[in-house]
Amino acid sequence: MTSLRAANKEREPLTAARSVISLRGVEKYFPVKEGTLQRVVGHVRAVDGVSFDVRPGETVGLVGESGCGKTTLGRCISGLTQVTGGRIYFRLSDADAARLDVIEAIAASERTRDQVRELKRIEENHRIDQLEGKAWKTYRRNCQVVFQDSFSSLNPRQLVKDIVGRPLRVWNEASGEELTERVVSLLESVGLRRQHMYRYPHQFSGGQRQRVSIARALALDPEFIVLDEPTSALDVSVQAQILNLLYDLQRERGLTYLFISHDLGVVRLMSDRIAVMYLGKVAEQGTATELFEDPRHPYTEALLAANPDIKAKESGMKGLHGHVPDPASPPEGCRFHTRCPVVTPVCGWEVDDAVAWLQDHEALAEGLAAVERRTNFDATLVFHTEEAAASAVEAFHKGDVPPVMRSALEEMSTDGRKVSIKFSPVPPVELEDIGGGRLTACILHTSRGLRI
Ligand SMILES: Nc1ncnc2c1ncn2[C@@H]1O[C@H](COP(=O)(O)OP(=O)(O)OP(=O)(O)O)[C@@H](O)[C@H]1O
Ligand code: SF4
Ligand SMILES: [Mg+2]
Repeated sequence: MTSLRAANKEREPLTAARSVISLRGVEKYFPVKEGTLQRVVGHVRAVDGVSFDVRPGETVGLVGESGCGKTTLGRCISGLTQVTGGRIYFRLSDADAARLDVIEAIAASERTRDQVRELKRIEENHRIDQLEGKAWKTYRRNCQVVFQDSFSSLNPRQLVKDIVGRPLRVWNEASGEELTERVVSLLESVGLRRQHMYRYPHQFSGGQRQRVSIARALALDPEFIVLDEPTSALDVSVQAQILNLLYDLQRERGLTYLFISHDLGVVRLMSDRIAVMYLGKVAEQGTATELFEDPRHPYTEALLAANPDIKAKESGMKGLHGHVPDPASPPEGCRFHTRCPVVTPVCGWEVDDAVAWLQDHEALAEGLAAVERRTNFDATLVFHTEEAAASAVEAFHKGDVPPVMRSALEEMSTDGRKVSIKFSPVPPVELEDIGGGRLTACILHTSRGLRI
């Protein structure tokens, strides 16, 4: 292990005042294509404006329901996929981060020549999609990934000796006898033995295979590892062994982790700080203790309430209801407003909410013929008959439409079979510092909420 650490000469002291990874408004949109010509008709907003820093030696947990963008964000950070917006920096010093904030706040056309030069210097040295030559290599070898599915991430036709030794060979780190000894040392560091070198991946149990994946990730003595659901496919007892191994390796090697999981218990165990993701955005961010003891965002509260094994502060929250909306057309205002148990009239009510409510009520849904949308907040609902239109209006005025949606409705007028509805446009609810380093994207806590 000592020799491995010595092999990485580019390593910096862990006490440096810098982050290992800094995300600034990171976006990854996937095109949605249709028809024989494969025309782009929209975009899945898998990651939609995520910003946070990962500091040396810490574990940042990334948690959220399936499809919220955790893996996509991990792939962007590790350079396996290109971002479509925003920036990712590697080893950004606090001083450079502060300069970036200052320069980027100035319109591009108004920056001085010195500011342009300074921005260029920072980006060429730290922004991962602009790194070249030695800087790119330093980033590539220092940022590794361990995936959930060790079966598909390990080449079934290669011996473990070749799988674990490959990074060392590709980077000309070792060959011949030295390479073999380095592989043995790596296997031993993850609890495997010399004889395991001559086995194929299918000859291991799931837990052992994940140990092989970890050994491979450690081969170049990286600084940072993205762990994408590293224990989700394993039995509970094996999970604990792998988590302990990851924890020990972090302490021994000063590793920094981004720990991705949908399992709150595991994230709590492993993380110093946690970012809770919902539909491509971070809903709440704080230390593990803060988030579990005193969650502020209703989504975090609902996630905790849905997990009976986690003893969180009693909040009266009932857990999560309904489906995660389509990331190709995420809800307006607060993305969680379609499922939030404490939603207010100013959280982003829109035409889709009214239509979804009608469609959930068979008698009213049958009467709805078309939706003529002017904006997401303003539309005409066309019914098959005047009676159907009248029933819908009655339901909105006096029936069992949720009172909070009724309050949000700014206008409703009828003209025969047509019913015009209008909600107030609401800007996206963004993450805000609510004091003490806590960040949340809920108007009940942010400055926008205080203005209501
Ligand atoms: N290559 C791709 N092309 C199109 N859409 C994609 C692609 N990869 C991911 N997506 C979509 O992006 C969204 C986020 O997916 P992602 O795999 O990042 O979620 P996740 O949080 O890791 O989910 P899980 O917990 O199930 O692993 C999903 O809606 C997914 O369908
Ligand atoms: S802003 Fe807060 S209260 Fe409103 S829907 Fe979002 S989480 Fe719920
Ligand atoms: Mg995933």
